[in-house]
Amino acid sequence: MATLLRIDASAQLEERSLTRHLTGLFTRTFLTNASETQVITRDVGQKPIPAIDHQFIHAAFTPPEEREPWMNERLALSDELVDEVVAADILVLGAPMYNYGMPTALKGWIDHIARIGKTFSFDLARGDTPIEPTLSGKRLVVLSSRGEFGFAPGGVRAHLNALDPALAACAHYFGVARNDIETVAIEYQEFKDDRYRASVEAAEARTRELAAKLAVAEAQAT
Ligand SMILES: Cc1cc2nc3c(=O)[nH]c(=O)nc-3n(C[C@H](O)[C@H](O)[C@H](O)COP(=O)(O)O)c2cc1C
Repeated sequence: MATLLRIDASAQLEERSLTRHLTGLFTRTFLTNASETQVITRDVGQKPIPAIDHQFIHAAFTPPEEREPWMNERLALSDELVDEVVAADILVLGAPMYNYGMPTALKGWIDHIARIGKTFSFDLARGDTPIEPTLSGKRLVVLSSRGEFGFAPGGVRAHLNALDPALAACAHYFGVARNDIETVAIEYQEFKDDRYRASVEAAEARTRELAAKLAVAEAQAT
């Protein structure tokens, strides 16, 4: 049985959010093709994760056997979020573009997932690459939306895209290799014209196609 972790990061409510529309479509299509799937939902847009602070960092970098009770309390949410990622085979992430990057809520989630001893190890004996991810073999589907357009590689605003490269840089913390990331993005949202409508239709079609393909692959693998 596959486990799908759905993460929504839009600050907008369901009826006004294009990324929530796509993550919902993905999840429903996945379930249609693999009905046994366990779905875990994590809504960081509606229930934002607090920013990490000096206490979090102190706790996270204290070895587990030396932690005081307050440290374990401070790390409890992070532990829960990491457990959700560990359980997942596929992560579907609703990631709107805010100010050319990711929403604060999503960055907060990543800061709670990147945990020494849980999702990565650090050893200077490895020379210039001391960080090694702990998790592997998961797939990431990024379902995004942007008000402007041309953010894909080669596009007129590709150089402004601080969202997709940042997600790719952190994906190893979720156990996802660079080649196992699929990105679908609605563009032109602010223009509300034919280009926008065509972009929504194309993104919906690609989302359905990806969900069906991945669900069938997961069903065959288990
Ligand atoms: C706070 C905020 C910042 C935004 N910044 C950008 C931006 O830098 N570039 C862009 O193309 N669109 C930007 N947009 C437009 C959103 O990317 C677009 O509305 C998208 O559909 C939001 O996702 P959602 O519909 O799931 O909420 C921004 C929207 C908001 C609310």
